[in-house]
Amino acid sequence: MANKRVFSGIQPSGDLHIGNYLGAMVNWVRGQGEHDNVFCIVDLHAITVPQDPKILKKRILENAKMYLAAGIDPKKSTLFVQSDRPEHSELAWILNCFTYMGEMNRMTQFKEKSNQTKVRTEMKKILKKQKGYTTKYLEKRLDELKDAKTNTQEWFESVMLEIQKEQFDQEIEATIDNYFASNATVGLFDYPVLMAADILLYDTDEVPVGDDQKQHVEIARDIAKRVNNKFGKVFTVPEPIIKKEGARIMSLVDPTKKMAKSDDSENSYVLLRDNADTIYKKFARATTDSENVIKFDKEKKPGISNLLNIMSVATETPIPELEKKYADSNYGEFKKDVADCVIELLKPLQEKLAEYDKNEDYVRKVLKDGAEAVAPRAQATLERVKKAVGLGL
Ligand code: TRP
Repeated sequence: MANKRVFSGIQPSGDLHIGNYLGAMVNWVRGQGEHDNVFCIVDLHAITVPQDPKILKKRILENAKMYLAAGIDPKKSTLFVQSDRPEHSELAWILNCFTYMGEMNRMTQFKEKSNQTKVRTEMKKILKKQKGYTTKYLEKRLDELKDAKTNTQEWFESVMLEIQKEQFDQEIEATIDNYFASNATVGLFDYPVLMAADILLYDTDEVPVGDDQKQHVEIARDIAKRVNNKFGKVFTVPEPIIKKEGARIMSLVDPTKKMAKSDDSENSYVLLRDNADTIYKKFARATTDSENVIKFDKEKKPGISNLLNIMSVATETPIPELEKKYADSNYGEFKKDVADCVIELLKPLQEKLAEYDKNEDYVRKVLKDGAEAVAPRAQATLERVKKAVGLGL
């Protein structure tokens, strides 16, 4: 039997950190030989939210370097940039015509990306205070007062109650939803269709994704089945493979939160490009507790547990062994050792990165070769679809 076809999309996000590396990238690299893997840097998806062109361009190359340095082997896997293959956009258009507005409306990521929670909360406060809004509601009910039988006191109480109640909240929610929806781009709304095109172009069997992307793979399946039902077998219906989360690496500042680049504090994450000095500093400042006992206890000792976890994954040593080893150590010594392990872990990766920095043409060539290697399959799928739908001569 032919190898399973696996497609993964990589967002060309900014700097990657050890949370990305230990939590996800390591898994990508594993099992490279077993499947027919396609890794695609999804720059067309990136522009669904505002991007600085210069920074985006840099990030595409930077991401490619990072994945190659982490161990994606161009001999075993294909790595390419989405916009280098025009078939993605072209298929997305055709799929658009087999996708319903209602389906897209239900996608939650669109809602999350288009209305930032912080702004929402602020708006809600303002709207609640805003007299105009209350006035509008009042206007609707003022007519009732014309009726002589209305008890003014009761009426007043009921209006006030209503204003505080859910219905009013929902009106506010709806106003905010509307506001954000009309200020988000059509591209963001259409994001899942482009993603379906990515997947379906390559007759993908499996799509490894995080939980947040499962809904998008389901849409790709629905669209594939719908087209197949109409025109006969055009697409392979893909399966989502929900990635078992690798190590869940937490923030060094607030170890109850996942490590994230979007964090305000630079000390909360260790970037894959951080030098030894920076890594020592960040671990030295890592939040712990005042017990001075090195023991894994996620609830009571989230900081120390996170450090133990990082060391365990970085050195492939079970946590109990580490607890034993550090039974007589203080936090300062332990933190320094954790930093050493991470520095050691990142060393080969950083060496490769330095090589790629000097030889960006090599990285560009890998990407160009990748885009060429996948061309026949993408073109074949697109031809099949166009024929099925009745496009062209
Ligand atoms: N939406 C995915 C993410 O945010 C990235 C992506 C784009 C993707 N196209 C894909 C993932 C196709 C899997 C398959 O992570």
